[in-house]
Amino acid sequence: MDNLPCKESDRNNYPPVIGIGRNEHIGMVREIFTTIPGRYDFLNRLLSLRRDVAWRRFAVRKMQFFDTFHFLDVATGTADLAIEAARRHPEIRVTGIDFVSEMLAPGRNKIALRGLAGRIRLLQADALRLPFSDGSFDAVGIAFGIRNIPDRLAALREMRRVLVPGGRIYVLEMNAPQNQLWRSFFAPYLNRVLPRIARLFSQNPAAYLYLVDSITHFPPPPAFLAMMEEAGFSNRERYSLTLGITSLYIGQRSQNGDLGDLAGTEVLHEQAKDKSG
Ligand SMILES: C[S@@+](CC[C@H](N)C(=O)[O-])C[C@H]1O[C@@H](n2cnc3c(N)ncnc32)[C@H](O)[C@@H]1O
Repeated sequence: MDNLPCKESDRNNYPPVIGIGRNEHIGMVREIFTTIPGRYDFLNRLLSLRRDVAWRRFAVRKMQFFDTFHFLDVATGTADLAIEAARRHPEIRVTGIDFVSEMLAPGRNKIALRGLAGRIRLLQADALRLPFSDGSFDAVGIAFGIRNIPDRLAALREMRRVLVPGGRIYVLEMNAPQNQLWRSFFAPYLNRVLPRIARLFSQNPAAYLYLVDSITHFPPPPAFLAMMEEAGFSNRERYSLTLGITSLYIGQRSQNGDLGDLAGTEVLHEQAKDKSG
Protein backbone atom coordinates (compact mmCIF):
# COMPACT_ATOMS: atom_id res chain seq x y z
CA MET A 1 0.00 0.00 0.00
CA ASP A 2 2.98 2.25 0.05
CA ASN A 3 3.34 3.28 -3.60
CA LEU A 4 0.93 6.14 -3.61
CA PRO A 5 0.27 7.55 -7.05
CA CYS A 6 0.46 11.16 -6.02
CA LYS A 7 2.16 14.26 -7.29
CA GLU A 8 5.69 14.47 -5.93
CA SER A 9 4.86 17.85 -4.39
CA ASP A 10 2.00 16.28 -2.37
CA ARG A 11 4.11 13.35 -1.30
CA ASN A 12 6.87 15.56 -0.03
CA ASN A 13 4.62 17.58 2.22
CA TYR A 14 4.34 15.05 5.06
CA PRO A 15 6.80 12.31 5.92
CA PRO A 16 5.48 8.76 6.54
CA VAL A 17 4.25 8.25 10.12
CA ILE A 18 6.60 5.31 10.54
CA GLY A 19 10.02 6.69 11.26
CA ILE A 20 9.18 10.13 12.59
CA GLY A 21 9.44 11.19 16.23
CA ARG A 22 6.42 11.80 18.46
CA ASN A 23 6.78 15.56 18.51
CA GLU A 24 7.13 15.76 14.75
CA HIS A 25 4.03 13.56 14.37
CA ILE A 26 2.03 15.77 16.77
CA GLY A 27 3.13 18.93 14.94
CA MET A 28 2.12 17.39 11.62
CA VAL A 29 -1.31 16.39 12.95
CA ARG A 30 -1.90 19.89 14.32
CA GLU A 31 -0.96 21.45 10.98
CA ILE A 32 -3.07 19.05 8.95
CA PHE A 33 -6.24 19.63 10.97
CA THR A 34 -5.69 23.38 10.95
CA THR A 35 -5.80 23.36 7.14
CA ILE A 36 -8.78 21.11 6.35
CA PRO A 37 -11.86 22.05 8.42
CA GLY A 38 -13.66 23.85 5.54
CA ARG A 39 -14.40 20.71 3.53
CA TYR A 40 -13.81 18.15 6.30
CA ASP A 41 -17.44 17.01 6.74
CA PHE A 42 -18.13 17.01 3.01
CA LEU A 43 -15.07 14.89 2.24
CA ASN A 44 -15.82 12.50 5.11
CA ARG A 45 -19.26 11.79 3.63
CA LEU A 46 -17.97 11.54 0.07
CA LEU A 47 -14.90 9.40 0.72
CA SER A 48 -16.74 6.97 3.01
CA LEU A 49 -19.98 7.00 0.96
CA ARG A 50 -21.71 8.22 4.15
CA ARG A 51 -20.60 5.16 6.09
CA ASP A 52 -18.96 7.50 8.63
CA VAL A 53 -22.44 8.66 9.69
CA ALA A 54 -23.57 5.05 10.15
CA TRP A 55 -20.42 4.16 12.11
CA ARG A 56 -20.92 7.02 14.58
CA ARG A 57 -24.61 6.10 14.96
CA PHE A 58 -23.67 2.52 15.65
CA ALA A 59 -21.26 3.62 18.40
CA VAL A 60 -23.76 6.01 19.96
CA ARG A 61 -26.45 3.31 20.06
CA LYS A 62 -24.14 1.17 22.19
CA MET A 63 -23.54 3.91 24.80
CA GLN A 64 -24.91 3.56 28.31
CA PHE A 65 -25.46 6.33 30.86
CA PHE A 66 -26.13 5.55 34.51
CA ASP A 67 -24.38 7.91 36.93
CA THR A 68 -23.07 11.30 35.76
CA PHE A 69 -25.09 11.30 32.50
CA HIS A 70 -22.15 13.11 30.96
CA PHE A 71 -20.41 12.04 27.73
CA LEU A 72 -16.92 13.13 26.70
CA ASP A 73 -16.03 13.18 22.98
CA VAL A 74 -12.23 13.25 22.68
CA ALA A 75 -10.71 14.64 19.44
CA THR A 76 -14.24 15.78 18.62
CA GLY A 77 -13.19 17.74 15.49
CA THR A 78 -16.37 19.14 13.95
CA ALA A 79 -18.43 17.52 16.74
CA ASP A 80 -20.30 14.86 14.76
CA LEU A 81 -20.05 12.20 17.48
CA ALA A 82 -20.94 14.72 20.20
CA ILE A 83 -24.03 15.85 18.26
CA GLU A 84 -25.12 12.29 17.48
CA ALA A 85 -24.79 11.32 21.17
CA ALA A 86 -26.82 14.33 22.32
CA ARG A 87 -29.56 13.55 19.80
CA ARG A 88 -29.78 9.87 20.63
CA HIS A 89 -29.60 10.31 24.42
CA PRO A 90 -31.73 13.33 25.38
CA GLU A 91 -30.95 12.82 29.09
CA ILE A 92 -27.20 13.54 28.78
CA ARG A 93 -24.83 16.50 28.65
CA VAL A 94 -21.87 16.34 26.27
CA THR A 95 -18.40 17.83 26.33
CA GLY A 96 -16.20 17.68 23.23
CA ILE A 97 -12.48 18.46 23.26
CA ASP A 98 -9.97 18.95 20.46
CA PHE A 99 -6.56 20.60 20.39
CA VAL A 100 -7.17 22.35 17.04
CA SER A 101 -9.50 25.33 17.47
CA GLU A 102 -10.07 25.57 13.69
CA MET A 103 -11.80 22.14 13.77
CA LEU A 104 -14.06 23.22 16.64
CA ALA A 105 -15.39 26.31 14.82
CA PRO A 106 -17.67 24.45 12.34
CA GLY A 107 -18.71 22.17 15.20
CA ARG A 108 -19.92 25.15 17.23
CA ASN A 109 -21.97 26.37 14.25
CA LYS A 110 -23.60 22.96 13.78
CA ILE A 111 -24.43 22.75 17.50
CA ALA A 112 -26.04 26.20 17.45
CA LEU A 113 -28.00 25.41 14.26
CA ARG A 114 -29.41 22.27 15.86
CA GLY A 115 -30.39 24.08 19.07
CA LEU A 116 -28.02 21.95 21.14
CA ALA A 117 -25.85 24.71 22.62
CA GLY A 118 -27.41 24.22 26.06
CA ARG A 119 -26.30 20.57 26.16
CA ILE A 120 -23.02 20.41 24.25
CA ARG A 121 -19.91 22.45 25.02
CA LEU A 122 -16.67 22.32 23.06
CA LEU A 123 -13.28 23.04 24.62
CA GLN A 124 -9.78 23.30 23.21
CA ALA A 125 -7.73 20.69 25.09
CA ASP A 126 -5.19 17.92 24.60
CA ALA A 127 -6.30 14.28 24.80
CA LEU A 128 -3.16 13.53 26.81
CA ARG A 129 -4.02 16.08 29.53
CA LEU A 130 -7.80 16.11 29.87
CA PRO A 131 -8.91 19.07 32.03
CA PHE A 132 -11.36 16.98 34.10
CA SER A 133 -11.31 15.26 37.49
CA ASP A 134 -11.14 11.49 37.82
CA GLY A 135 -14.49 9.75 37.35
CA SER A 136 -16.33 12.60 35.57
CA PHE A 137 -17.99 10.71 32.71
CA ASP A 138 -20.17 7.61 32.20
CA ALA A 139 -18.87 7.26 28.65
CA VAL A 140 -15.88 8.54 26.72
CA GLY A 141 -15.72 8.30 22.92
CA ILE A 142 -13.07 8.94 20.31
CA ALA A 143 -13.96 8.68 16.61
CA PHE A 144 -11.13 8.52 14.08
CA GLY A 145 -8.90 10.33 16.54
CA ILE A 146 -6.76 7.70 18.25
CA ARG A 147 -4.80 6.98 15.06
CA ASN A 148 -3.61 10.59 15.11
CA ILE A 149 -2.20 10.36 18.63
CA PRO A 150 1.30 8.84 18.64
CA ASP A 151 1.20 7.89 22.35
CA ARG A 152 -2.02 5.88 22.14
CA LEU A 153 -1.46 4.01 25.38
CA ALA A 154 -1.15 7.27 27.34
CA ALA A 155 -4.30 8.61 25.66
CA LEU A 156 -6.24 5.44 26.54
CA ARG A 157 -5.06 5.66 30.16
CA GLU A 158 -6.06 9.31 30.36
CA MET A 159 -9.54 8.51 28.99
CA ARG A 160 -9.87 5.70 31.53
CA ARG A 161 -8.94 8.08 34.35
CA VAL A 162 -11.91 10.36 33.66
CA LEU A 163 -14.43 7.49 33.46
CA VAL A 164 -16.56 6.57 36.47
CA PRO A 165 -16.01 2.99 37.71
CA GLY A 166 -18.10 0.81 35.41
CA GLY A 167 -18.01 3.46 32.66
CA ARG A 168 -17.04 2.57 29.11
CA ILE A 169 -14.80 3.84 26.36
CA TYR A 170 -15.97 3.73 22.71
CA VAL A 171 -13.21 3.91 20.09
CA LEU A 172 -14.09 4.09 16.39
CA GLU A 173 -11.14 3.62 14.10
CA MET A 174 -10.34 2.58 10.55
CA ASN A 175 -7.83 -0.11 9.68
CA ALA A 176 -6.68 -2.05 6.69
CA PRO A 177 -9.18 -4.95 6.36
CA GLN A 178 -7.98 -8.34 7.58
CA ASN A 179 -9.68 -10.28 4.77
CA GLN A 180 -7.21 -10.65 1.87
CA LEU A 181 -9.85 -10.50 -0.89
CA TRP A 182 -11.51 -7.36 0.47
CA ARG A 183 -8.07 -5.89 1.14
CA SER A 184 -7.21 -6.28 -2.53
CA PHE A 185 -10.24 -4.11 -3.43
CA PHE A 186 -9.77 -1.63 -0.62
CA ALA A 187 -6.06 -0.95 -1.21
CA PRO A 188 -6.53 0.51 -4.73
CA TYR A 189 -9.36 2.66 -3.41
CA LEU A 190 -7.17 4.02 -0.63
CA ASN A 191 -4.09 4.45 -2.79
CA ARG A 192 -5.54 5.62 -6.09
CA VAL A 193 -9.13 6.83 -5.85
CA LEU A 194 -9.06 8.62 -2.50
CA PRO A 195 -6.00 10.83 -3.24
CA ARG A 196 -7.53 11.89 -6.58
CA ILE A 197 -10.83 12.88 -4.98
CA ALA A 198 -8.96 14.73 -2.24
CA ARG A 199 -6.95 16.59 -4.86
CA LEU A 200 -10.19 17.75 -6.51
CA PHE A 201 -11.87 19.01 -3.35
CA SER A 202 -9.48 19.58 -0.47
CA GLN A 203 -7.51 22.74 0.29
CA ASN A 204 -4.72 20.43 1.42
CA PRO A 205 -4.69 17.17 -0.61
CA ALA A 206 -1.49 16.02 1.07
CA ALA A 207 -3.50 15.74 4.30
CA TYR A 208 -5.39 12.86 2.69
CA LEU A 209 -2.16 11.07 1.87
CA TYR A 210 -1.41 11.27 5.57
CA LEU A 211 -4.88 9.78 6.14
CA VAL A 212 -4.03 6.76 3.96
CA ASP A 213 -0.65 6.40 5.64
CA SER A 214 -2.12 6.58 9.15
CA ILE A 215 -4.86 4.02 8.36
CA THR A 216 -2.34 1.67 6.80
CA HIS A 217 -0.10 1.81 9.87
CA PHE A 218 -2.78 1.62 12.58
CA PRO A 219 -2.34 -1.56 14.66
CA PRO A 220 -4.53 -4.50 13.58
CA PRO A 221 -7.53 -5.18 15.88
CA PRO A 222 -5.88 -7.84 18.09
CA ALA A 223 -2.95 -5.49 18.80
CA PHE A 224 -5.26 -2.59 19.60
CA LEU A 225 -7.35 -4.78 21.93
CA ALA A 226 -4.14 -5.79 23.70
CA MET A 227 -3.27 -2.10 24.13
CA MET A 228 -6.71 -1.47 25.65
CA GLU A 229 -6.04 -4.26 28.11
CA GLU A 230 -2.66 -2.73 28.97
CA ALA A 231 -4.42 0.60 29.56
CA GLY A 232 -6.65 -1.10 32.13
CA PHE A 233 -9.89 -1.76 30.26
CA SER A 234 -11.80 -4.96 30.98
CA ASN A 235 -14.76 -6.54 29.13
CA ARG A 236 -13.30 -5.53 25.81
CA GLU A 237 -15.42 -5.92 22.67
CA ARG A 238 -14.77 -5.29 19.01
CA TYR A 239 -17.45 -4.78 16.37
CA SER A 240 -16.27 -5.13 12.79
CA LEU A 241 -18.06 -2.60 10.56
CA THR A 242 -18.33 -2.45 6.76
CA LEU A 243 -16.33 -5.61 6.12
CA GLY A 244 -13.75 -4.65 8.71
CA ILE A 245 -12.55 -1.31 7.35
CA THR A 246 -13.71 0.26 10.59
CA SER A 247 -13.91 -1.17 14.10
CA LEU A 248 -15.80 -0.11 17.17
CA TYR A 249 -13.83 -1.03 20.28
CA ILE A 250 -15.54 -0.93 23.67
CA GLY A 251 -13.82 -1.37 27.02
CA GLN A 252 -14.90 -0.90 30.61
CA ARG A 253 -13.26 0.68 33.61
CA SER A 254 -13.83 -1.94 36.29
CA GLN A 255 -16.54 -1.40 38.91
CA ASN A 256 -13.83 -1.28 41.57
CA GLY A 257 -11.91 1.50 39.88
CA ASP A 258 -8.37 0.20 39.75
CA LEU A 259 -8.89 -3.12 41.49
CA GLY A 260 -10.80 -5.01 38.78
CA ASP A 261 -9.81 -8.01 36.75
CA LEU A 262 -7.91 -6.33 33.95
CA ALA A 263 -7.92 -9.36 31.72
CA GLY A 264 -11.74 -9.49 31.91
CA THR A 265 -13.52 -10.94 28.94
CA GLU A 266 -13.01 -10.24 25.26
CA VAL A 267 -15.79 -10.57 22.69
CA LEU A 268 -15.41 -10.13 18.95
CA HIS A 269 -18.47 -9.35 16.85
CA GLU A 270 -17.64 -10.03 13.22
CA GLN A 271 -19.52 -8.03 10.59
CA ALA A 272 -21.88 -6.12 12.83
CA LYS A 273 -24.74 -4.47 10.96
CA ASP A 274 -23.81 -0.82 10.66
CA LYS A 275 -26.98 0.40 8.97
CA SER A 276 -27.65 3.96 10.00
CA GLY A 277 -31.43 3.55 10.34
C1 LIG B 1 -9.92 12.62 11.83
S1 LIG B 1 -10.36 13.90 12.94
C2 LIG B 1 -11.78 13.18 13.75
C3 LIG B 1 -12.80 14.21 14.15
C4 LIG B 1 -14.13 13.65 14.66
N1 LIG B 1 -13.96 12.90 15.87
C5 LIG B 1 -14.87 12.85 13.63
O1 LIG B 1 -15.48 11.83 14.00
O2 LIG B 1 -14.92 13.26 12.47
C6 LIG B 1 -9.12 13.78 14.17
C7 LIG B 1 -9.15 14.90 15.20
O3 LIG B 1 -8.26 14.57 16.26
C8 LIG B 1 -7.75 15.76 16.79
N2 LIG B 1 -6.59 15.43 17.62
C9 LIG B 1 -5.48 14.76 17.25
N3 LIG B 1 -4.62 14.64 18.30
C10 LIG B 1 -5.24 15.24 19.37
C11 LIG B 1 -4.86 15.44 20.72
N4 LIG B 1 -3.69 15.00 21.20
N5 LIG B 1 -5.72 16.09 21.52
C12 LIG B 1 -6.90 16.55 21.05
N6 LIG B 1 -7.30 16.41 19.77
C13 LIG B 1 -6.48 15.75 18.93
C14 LIG B 1 -7.47 16.57 15.54
O4 LIG B 1 -7.30 17.94 15.80
C15 LIG B 1 -8.70 16.25 14.69
O5 LIG B 1 -9.72 17.21 14.88
